[in-house]
Formats: sequence, structure tokens, C-alpha cells
Amino acid sequence: MIAPSILNADNMHLSRDIKAAIESGIERFHIDIMDGHFVPNLSYGPELVKDFKRSFPFTKAEIHLMSNNLDTTLPLFVEAGCDILEFHYEATNKPDYWLNYLKDHNVRCGMAINPSTPVNKLKPFLNKLDQVLLMTVKPGFGGQKFEEVSVDRLTELQDMIKNENLDLPIEVDGGIDRETLKLTRDAGAKIFVAGSYIFKNGSIEDQVMKLKKEDK
Ligand code: DX5
Ligand code: ZN
Repeated sequence: MIAPSILNADNMHLSRDIKAAIESGIERFHIDIMDGHFVPNLSYGPELVKDFKRSFPFTKAEIHLMSNNLDTTLPLFVEAGCDILEFHYEATNKPDYWLNYLKDHNVRCGMAINPSTPVNKLKPFLNKLDQVLLMTVKPGFGGQKFEEVSVDRLTELQDMIKNENLDLPIEVDGGIDRETLKLTRDAGAKIFVAGSYIFKNGSIEDQVMKLKKEDK
């Protein structure tokens, strides 16, 4: 599955860019929320998510929450109507509380992990998640280069999931293009976030199609 990150779409033509991707068969968008603390950048707030769901009620809104102030930020995005929410392992000391919170509010849950955090830290949570978000760049900005070490991390994570007999999809995020999609697909990734490859390279339809061809 391809989940376009709107971070690098044209903010003045956001709905045009989103529609172009939907017309190419996209069913889920990845919405990067940055709080200026957990990462040194700012992006959108809950109003954007509300407007997204009002305009595109049949399209899934996946929130990648790059915030370590979850008490304030996480409920806002649940209230805004997101379908999936991924918070960072590094951002909270009460992950179980938030996983239960998301379950109670019927939001699918994911846990995100930074390139510098050992993947085995996720082990205790795997059976409680709907998906895992393996960052393939340091979070904070679109347009960065895929970190090659991610392939080994992906293999390690995939082995951990297999050993626990779980059917848990791994999503990769950062520097995904045709080549890195193939690399990560072969290492077991199932969901591919792509921002600048889709929105900063001419025809959105063509870019989505190119990725879809590799995602089989
Ligand atoms: C980075 C974000 C990514 C980013 C991906 O902090 O989590 O989702 O928007 O953008 P590209 O595909 O350009 O690396
Ligand atoms: Zn992201």
C-alpha cells in the first residue's frame, strides 16, 4: 500500500493534490504532525484533519504524530476524526496507556521508531499494534535521503514479528522512491509513505503509478 505524505504537497492547492492522488487509486494519506519540540519543525493541526475527513470521508487519514506532549496533542487528533494514529516510542513513558486510549476510541494504532532507537525496544508492544512505523530518515523534514541501515533494521523487525506469529504490517517512512520501495518491499515492508517523490516531481498521477507498479 502507498500512503502519500502530504507534507510536500502544495499547501495552496492541497485538495487538488490530494484529489489527483485519490484518482490514481490512493486510499490512505499520511499526515505528518510536528510540534516544534519532538522535532525541530512545525506542520499542521487538528483542523486540517477535520477538513480532510469532511472533504474526503472515504479516504483514510493516518496521523504520524511527532510530538512528545501526547497528553495535549494526541486526543486532539482522535477528536478530529483520524482513522489511524502512530505515536513515537521515544515520545512517551506511558505507551500502554495511549495504546488503550486509541483502542477505546476505535482508532487503529501504530508505534513509530526513530532510526537511532534499537528495534527490539518495540518487542513488548508488537501484539498490541495494528502497524509499525519504521522511520527510514530522522523525522522532521521531507526530502531527506533514505538511510541504508534501515534494510537491516527492517529484517530484524520482520524476524521479531514472525517469531511472535503475528501478522503485523511494517510501514516505512522517509526517502521512499522506486528504488528504496523495492529494497524495503523485499525486506518485508508492506506500507510505503512517500512525500517528495509523489508531490515534487511533476505529475502526481504518474508518480503514484510508478510506485504502485513496484508495490505488488
Ligand atoms: C518526515 C516525515 C515523512 C516525510 C516523508 O519527518 O515523517 O513522512 O514527509 O517525506 P519524503 O518522502 O520526502 O522523505
Ligand atoms: Zn511521516
